[in-house]
Amino acid sequence: MDRYVIAGEKPLYGTVTISGGKNAAVAIIPATILVSGSCIIENIPKIRDVIQLFDILKKMGASVDYLDETTVKIDTTGISSPIATFEEVRKMRASYYLIGALLGRFGKAKVNLPGGCDFGNRPIDQHIKGFEALGATVSVEHGVVNAASDSLRGDTVYMDVRSVGATINIMLAAVLTKGTTIIENAGKEPHIVDTANFLNMMGAKIKGAGTDVIKIEGVTKLIGKTYTIIPDQIEAGTYMVAAAAAGGRVKVENIIPKHMETIAAKLEECGVYVEEGDDYIIISRDNNVKLKKTNIKTLPYPGFPTDMQPQMAAMLSTAEGTSIITEGVWDNRFRYIDELRRMGASADVDGRVCVIKGVKKLMGAEVTACDLRAGVAMVIAGLCAEGITTVVETDHIERGYENLVEKLTGLGASIKKVSDSDSKQTFTEKAIG
Ligand code: EPU
Repeated sequence: MDRYVIAGEKPLYGTVTISGGKNAAVAIIPATILVSGSCIIENIPKIRDVIQLFDILKKMGASVDYLDETTVKIDTTGISSPIATFEEVRKMRASYYLIGALLGRFGKAKVNLPGGCDFGNRPIDQHIKGFEALGATVSVEHGVVNAASDSLRGDTVYMDVRSVGATINIMLAAVLTKGTTIIENAGKEPHIVDTANFLNMMGAKIKGAGTDVIKIEGVTKLIGKTYTIIPDQIEAGTYMVAAAAAGGRVKVENIIPKHMETIAAKLEECGVYVEEGDDYIIISRDNNVKLKKTNIKTLPYPGFPTDMQPQMAAMLSTAEGTSIITEGVWDNRFRYIDELRRMGASADVDGRVCVIKGVKKLMGAEVTACDLRAGVAMVIAGLCAEGITTVVETDHIERGYENLVEKLTGLGASIKKVSDSDSKQTFTEKAIG
């Protein structure tokens, strides 16, 4: 198992370039199943979830070729069966998009139930409700989702819960389906809009993505073209919070500032200087000035993103005063607080509410990356803490962050990736050095 060893209390300075959006990429890659011929996707992030999805597509018969570091040519013509029941599918959350895409292309799909980060109950009832509204019969047996229809047709779906995954999945199932599909109470996240833009570029007729109501007029064919994935909102937010927490001055570039508004506003509330440009944000904080407390409630977009909640908790653990974080999306997204406590944070969780009393300092400790965002929150805590922090189970982090260690090192952080075969002592010394 790999781990990150961090020597904390070093402010961050410099520029970090943000990669393509994970949650857009993991939707757009399965969406290529609906496209005839090959499409070229630019700004592909180099992260495990993406590599795993490419492996899944290849196993199903698609060809996937890297044209350069971030550009991939995908041709799914060779996929001849709507079945994806192998192990890799079960391991990742975004594999649920295979259901919508295969259903849209073949009129049937047989896909392993998805896995992903453990935040408690992660149902897919709204996805199923959408497929059924389009005329599919759906059953879940022995961990496999079976969806099939002789003839799908557009209809109106009212989503009881505003779900990113269900919104995208219903779009995928509907683009090649006869008639008009309307999704009411749709999710509005940037990656939903990006997926709709990708499909429209290939010839789909989707209107209203980014609003409460999405209207999809079925077309007969999508033709492969070139598309560029949007920058990763959460990766950008993570570096913004890292700079705010550790202090220093960091330019976060290749971003869409509009996507960063709620995060930037919260940082300003905490006394952080934020300067916005066309495609960048500069974050700066003098280490002699303490961060101020704030309250956060996570909500679907344009609310404060749940995927930034753990990073904010790490930052607020040394802010002056008591901050309250209310998790408005997931049932159980505070498991990492125990890890933060190991570093000296004073935080109490009651259901979906976490109360954080700012302490003077965090202390380095060995902590676990419970999941992707919780893991990167431990890295942020380590950047601020006195002494050495070791983050274990970093596989979770690499699912969604491209070159995290290299990017932080470029900003002046002391962070090393260490494998079991390496000597912990040597790397700890190097980290301090
Ligand atoms: N929900 C239902 N029924 C459903 C689907 C969702 O009740 O059929 C509930 C969930 O239990 C949750 C809420 O609706 O309480 C929102 O879930 P959503 O479907 O929006 O989440 P998701 O599509 O599974 C995506 C991201 C997550 C992110 C959430 C919320 C991807 C691959 N994943 O998950 O990202 O937390 O939206 O914004 O896009 C991450 O990147 O670290 C991550 C976990």
